[in-house]
Amino acid sequence: MRGWQLDAGGHRADWRVLRRLGPFVRPHARAVVAGLVLMAAASAARILGPYLVKVAIDGPAARGDVAGLAALSAAYLAIKLLEGGLDAAHTVLLRVRGEDVLRDLRSALFAKAHRLPAAYYDVTPSGAVLARITSDVAVLSDLFSSGMAALFGDVLLIVGILVAMFRLDPGLALTAYAVLPVLAALSEWFRRRMRVVYRETREKTSRLTGILGEHLRGAAVVRLFGAEAWSDDQFARANADHLRAFLKSVTLYALFFPAVELAASVATAGVLWRGGVGVAGGAVTFGTLVAFFEYVQRFFRPVRDLSEKFNVLQASLAAVERISEFLDRPEEPPGGREQPRAAGQVVFERVTFSYDGQPPAVQDVSLIVEPGEVVALVGPTGAGKTTLVHLLLGLYRCPAGTIRLDGVSLDALDPAWLRRHVALVPQDVFLFRGSVMDNIRLGREWVGRGDAEAAARAVGLHDAVAALPDGYDTPVLEEGVRLSSGQRQLVSFARALAGDPRVLVLDEATSEVDQATEAVIEQALDTLFRGRTNLVVAHRLATVRRADRVVVLARGRIAEQGTHRELLERGGLYRTLYELQFRTSSGLPGAEEAP
Ligand SMILES: Nc1ncnc2c1ncn2[C@@H]1O[C@H](COP(=O)(O)OP(=O)(O)OP(=O)(O)O)[C@@H](O)[C@H]1O
Ligand SMILES: [Mg+2]
Repeated sequence: MRGWQLDAGGHRADWRVLRRLGPFVRPHARAVVAGLVLMAAASAARILGPYLVKVAIDGPAARGDVAGLAALSAAYLAIKLLEGGLDAAHTVLLRVRGEDVLRDLRSALFAKAHRLPAAYYDVTPSGAVLARITSDVAVLSDLFSSGMAALFGDVLLIVGILVAMFRLDPGLALTAYAVLPVLAALSEWFRRRMRVVYRETREKTSRLTGILGEHLRGAAVVRLFGAEAWSDDQFARANADHLRAFLKSVTLYALFFPAVELAASVATAGVLWRGGVGVAGGAVTFGTLVAFFEYVQRFFRPVRDLSEKFNVLQASLAAVERISEFLDRPEEPPGGREQPRAAGQVVFERVTFSYDGQPPAVQDVSLIVEPGEVVALVGPTGAGKTTLVHLLLGLYRCPAGTIRLDGVSLDALDPAWLRRHVALVPQDVFLFRGSVMDNIRLGREWVGRGDAEAAARAVGLHDAVAALPDGYDTPVLEEGVRLSSGQRQLVSFARALAGDPRVLVLDEATSEVDQATEAVIEQALDTLFRGRTNLVVAHRLATVRRADRVVVLARGRIAEQGTHRELLERGGLYRTLYELQFRTSSGLPGAEEAP
């Protein structure tokens, strides 16, 4: 857990990255333009106010024209009301549209996450993807609502005030401008310091959240190993670092804001002195002097805000950059064709595959699995069994060799079609929030409730589900029931079976299951295997024994193959594995008899 979550790059982001947001903002273009126009109008009203004061003082007030004064006071109030109304209108407009844009962006990022190749997730921690869709998008919220728009409004206001002052009285304006170089230098200093501190704070925050997440997820391990003190210490350190970084920014603000106030006071004092002299000598009207006081007051707030906002803007640009990079990543290659039907013959032809930059995980594997067959894949841990079945599901492309389904290379098949006909029961069961039914159907519209229930019956899950408070509609996970590990396994089986696949790929869990679960799974397998092509990564003796053929994988290569009995008699690697793994571990009661 490092800075990657939030602010990875140290470089200054480029405004041009904003173009990537074009497609998301374009549908709201009219509203955005309208919002900016309203904002410009609000800035104009802000500049007009002090001018009205000047006109009132120098005109009707000086002449003793009560009616004129009343009219101008009313006009002043009207302008203020207008200013408030415009502010409210553009804030609501831009915020609402901004949030619409963010919602669309979040959905687009999430959809993108599904289209990325499986290999992407091998090298990217899921937290990074999570950060793209959550915190990076959240940072943009500032960009749309307060950031960009406010920047526009503030700049308009600053320029407008400078121009208004100059038009009223160039000499007095120059006096007020005298502090500008100091102010500019001060802002630049603050901006630079703040940039560093801001990044540090973000890094420390992400580290703190990272440790928090990790240690809460591992809370059971911490407890089991009595590691509470160690865990507390890790957290306390990150917490203290975070505080230190945060205090730096507090100090910076504590210095900068009063400094800007001081600059404003110097400008005010200058205006008072030069303006006072001018009024005494008749060169400056009293109204102009009052208007200047107002302008000087209004000028410094946006200046102060601008330097403060600049860092937020930089952070937003960096977020846009990361979001763009994510959106533009190459996707899983688009699908090939669908076949009229699948018979289910699986052929691996001299398949070699390695994960990015690593030695081959699968090497020169050739294997044919005929429809109706049950082939068990066994081998030591890390031998490449899971990799091989992932290749069959088209999760990775094989650079060398071919995998064919009914004679057609996977490269030519539509991955969605392929995965509909070749179902994988993965090594680890994954349940989503929702009901048991939702978890079996998993949003596949071609799997009806009836199919799901039939599948549950077939694998022996039905009785357990029927006993639940709401049957198939009982929620699992949060606020729901806790399924036992065997039941979870059966849900996973039912999920695969409900789609009635031609080819079933089962990656057996490595973890030990208790004997009751073992018996349940054993029965379920009978149904699962019937009438299909079955490739099973086997970790249990019972599974190996029922296989028509056993293929032994070692270091990515096929070392031996044959029936359980043949391989035992041969006395090779399988025999060793058998003695180490299968014989001693799981198996049906009484299944450990001699070969
Ligand atoms: N996503 C991945 N990225 C990089 N290397 C990987 C990845 N998955 C597996 N490997 C490596 O590839 C090799 C084969 O792993 P694989 O998961 O296929 O083994 P396995 O035979 O299924 O092992 P087990 O019996 O423990 O499940 C191992 O050396 C492993 O470290
Ligand atoms: Mg595996």
